[in-house]
Amino acid sequence: MSNTPSIPQHIAIIMDGNGRWAKQRGLPRAQGHRAGAESVREVIDACKELGVKYLTLYAFSSENWNRPAAEVSALMTLLQKFLQSKSSDLMRQNVRLQAIGQLDRLPNSTRRTLDKIIAETANNDGLTLILALSYGAREEITAAAKKIAQGVLEGRWTIDDIDAPLVSSQLDTAGIPDPDLLIRTSGEMRVSNFLLWQISYAEMVIVDRLWPEFRQGDLFDAVKEYQRRHRRFGGL
Ligand code: FPP
Repeated sequence: MSNTPSIPQHIAIIMDGNGRWAKQRGLPRAQGHRAGAESVREVIDACKELGVKYLTLYAFSSENWNRPAAEVSALMTLLQKFLQSKSSDLMRQNVRLQAIGQLDRLPNSTRRTLDKIIAETANNDGLTLILALSYGAREEITAAAKKIAQGVLEGRWTIDDIDAPLVSSQLDTAGIPDPDLLIRTSGEMRVSNFLLWQISYAEMVIVDRLWPEFRQGDLFDAVKEYQRRHRRFGGL
C-alpha cells in the first residue's frame, strides 16, 4: 500500500481478546497478553510502512485495575519488558513514544521505564505511538472539566470561552489530531470508555480476529475498509 492522502493520519486500536485466545489454548491469561505484545510490534511496523502519523493503543484501562492482582502485575511487567526490549527499535524506526491516562497509578518501575523512553524518543518525528495506560475517557473528561472550572475561577477564561477546542486542549490528547479510524478486535461492538470525545467522527472497523492473531495484513485490510467508506462519502 502506498502513502496516499486517504491513509488515516491517526489510527486508534482497542486490543481485545487476549484472554479468550489463551483460554482456547488452555494457557494462562498472561500468555495471551504476551502473544498480544507480538501483535503490537506488527501494527507499529504496519503503521510505519503506511506512513500513519499517530497510533494509539488501549493497553490498560482504568477498569483493568479490578482484574486479579496477578494479571495486573503480569501486564505491568510485560509492558515494562516490552518497552525495554523495543526502545532501540523505536529510535531506529523514528517512533516517538507518548502515553495518556492516569500514569501516576502505574508501578514506579514501569513509570520510570515509560518516562525514560518517552524522553529518549521525544525528538523522533516519524510515527507517534501513544499508549493509553490506566486510561478511561470519563476520567479524562472529568479532569478536563475540573481544569476548566479552575481556570474560570482564576480568571484565565470566562464561561463564554468554553468551546470544543478549549475542551480538547485540556484532555490528555491535547495537540494530537483526533483518530480517523478506530479498530476493535475480537468482534465486540463496544467503545469501553476509550477516547469518547476524540472518536466523535472516527470510522469504526470491528475485526473478528482475537488480538494475538492480528497481523499487519489485518491492519492493511482495516485501512482498505476505511478508504472504501471514504470514497463513498467523500463527494457529499
Ligand atoms: C484485552 O484482552 C487486552 C488487554 C486488557 C491488555 C492489552 C495488552 C496487550 C496487548 C499486551 C501488552 C501491551 C503492550 C503495549 C506491549 P482481554 O484480556 O480483555 O481479553 P478477553 O476479553 O478475551 O478476556
